[in-house]
Amino acid sequence: MEVIPIVSLKSAGATTAALALATVWPEQRPAPVVLECDPAGGDIAAHFDLPLTPGLVSVALAMDRPADVGEGMGVDLRLHSQVLPDRRDRSLVHVVVAPTSPEEMRRPLALLAEKLSFLAATETDILLDCGRLEAASIQGRTPTVRLLQQAGLAIVVVRPQLSELRRLAVWLPVLRSGHVEVMALLSQRGPYAESEIAHTLEVEVIGSLPDDPASAAIVGGGAAGPRPDRLPLLRAARATAAALVDRLATVGRHRDSSEAVLGTVVPLTGGTR
Ligand SMILES: Nc1ncnc2c1ncn2[C@@H]1O[C@H](COP(=O)(O)OP(=O)(O)OP(=O)(O)O)[C@@H](O)[C@H]1O
Ligand SMILES: [Mg+2]
Repeated sequence: MEVIPIVSLKSAGATTAALALATVWPEQRPAPVVLECDPAGGDIAAHFDLPLTPGLVSVALAMDRPADVGEGMGVDLRLHSQVLPDRRDRSLVHVVVAPTSPEEMRRPLALLAEKLSFLAATETDILLDCGRLEAASIQGRTPTVRLLQQAGLAIVVVRPQLSELRRLAVWLPVLRSGHVEVMALLSQRGPYAESEIAHTLEVEVIGSLPDDPASAAIVGGGAAGPRPDRLPLLRAARATAAALVDRLATVGRHRDSSEAVLGTVVPLTGGTR
């Protein structure tokens, strides 16, 4: 099982990226689960006309009552997931949807931030849609940042534009000081190329999703459309998912040999903006 947190800078497309990657996740891996844990509240239930339970709320209830799930067994997210309706193909996407209000997110996020290892019972990869990295998180050690630290990894979705890349530059030392390995996932439009960003910011760029509003509306917004493989966004997501799965093998080895394993959180430093 891999836990893969996806965050965005300024709504660059974290939810769309999580759903796109899940749709084209490499077949040699079990079908992944997308877990919505955006502190601002979830969007997927509304976009796909799904009920809010089962979902993150039922996960939180199970985490609050470990006796119900068996001592030391944790929570199997698949029991709390729903399948996105009518994808017009066989790539079923399993999603644990979140409630829409920030208030309702507080308890589930606090639980996840302390005990991400509870999800170890899920025998598949978990793509966490963590929403935006907020400025307050830098000093405040918010649940989202603690969650990233527990996972030891953050896929940061960023537009290749100067303002967003500057924000990424601020976040890189902050996250790295907390033993969070950062990979950038470029999304939408901007003048900077992958190689230039990687070289200038000294960050690994794991992929690039094209500016493709029509596909984004289908993949992330529940709009009707053609088979996923015909969508440029998903073709790019397939390449990114393959690169990510390859790369995770190395990140996993690094995590095992460092202190940034699930459940161990080290203090953050930095934060000068
Ligand atoms: N690759 C893309 N090409 C074009 N439009 C995109 C792409 N990815 C996302 N979008 C659009 O950008 C908007 C924001 O996307 P999304 O909701 O995925 O971002 P987010 O980072 O999850 O934002 P939020 O912070 O609001 O949760 C949506 O309208 C979505 O359709
Ligand atoms: Mg989102």
